[in-house]
Amino acid sequence: MKTKDNTVLITGGATGIGFALAEMFVKSGNKVIICGRREKKLEEASTKLPRLVTRVCDVTSQQGRESLYQWIEEHYPELNILINNAGVQRSINLKAGTQAFITGDSEIDTNLIAPIYLTMQFIPLLLNKDEAAIINVSSGLRSRPSARMPVYCATKAGLHSFTESLRNQLSDTNIKVFELVPPRVATSLGREDDAVSGGIPPSAVAEAALKALKEDEYEIIVE
Ligand SMILES: NC(=O)c1ccc[n+]([C@@H]2O[C@H](COP(=O)([O-])OP(=O)(O)OC[C@H]3O[C@@H](n4cnc5c(N)ncnc54)[C@H](OP(=O)(O)O)[C@@H]3O)[C@@H](O)[C@H]2O)c1
Repeated sequence: MKTKDNTVLITGGATGIGFALAEMFVKSGNKVIICGRREKKLEEASTKLPRLVTRVCDVTSQQGRESLYQWIEEHYPELNILINNAGVQRSINLKAGTQAFITGDSEIDTNLIAPIYLTMQFIPLLLNKDEAAIINVSSGLRSRPSARMPVYCATKAGLHSFTESLRNQLSDTNIKVFELVPPRVATSLGREDDAVSGGIPPSAVAEAALKALKEDEYEIIVE
């Protein structure tokens, strides 16, 4: 897969791994569009990286996803890479009833339904490009589920399964399907505040992704 002269959409691209990917794609000579819910975070990202194009979008909202697609189709029809990166992570006590599960951010809607929907929405646009890619960001926890984050781990296992089916179904097309599988990364994932938890730097994940893209290594397991 070429690594320059692409037009890339990164969901959840204002922070963490998504922003590191955005930075790397911009520096490598690509046009990058990022989206997320918090306008302030998008503004901070474009202050750091003025060439970024930003768009407020909640990927769990059907209306939000449709208007994102229509806006891209109108303004950036050359888009040829979709990165499903937006994600949320929660600690859920399975012994404490359903209240925590049914309130707050939905891991199932964000981490599983949104990437499935966006993938299906964007496939027709990607099919008419010389070269295109879909990169789904799962997690090492897809195959090593933790007790503390049972729903998160289930969504990542589901996204892994979906990505394999997608790759098989698109194998006779121009669309290459990648799965980025990070280990623990130093971002604010799962935190109410902006504090960053321990792990490898997001830039290391972005570097591994670029290298794998260049070499058509579809399963990108970052150590
Ligand atoms: N950090 C790790 O250790 C780790 C390890 C493996 C995999 N991952 C995966 O990597 C991806 C990025 O996570 P991260 O670690 O970089 O954490 P992060 O900095 O919290 O990034 C998550 C991004 O997703 C966006 N987002 C969340 N819900 C959204 C929604 N409904 N609509 C649109 N955007 C939404 C957030 O922006 P808004 O809140 O402004 O919407 C944020 O920019 C996730 O899929 C995560 O599961 C992370």
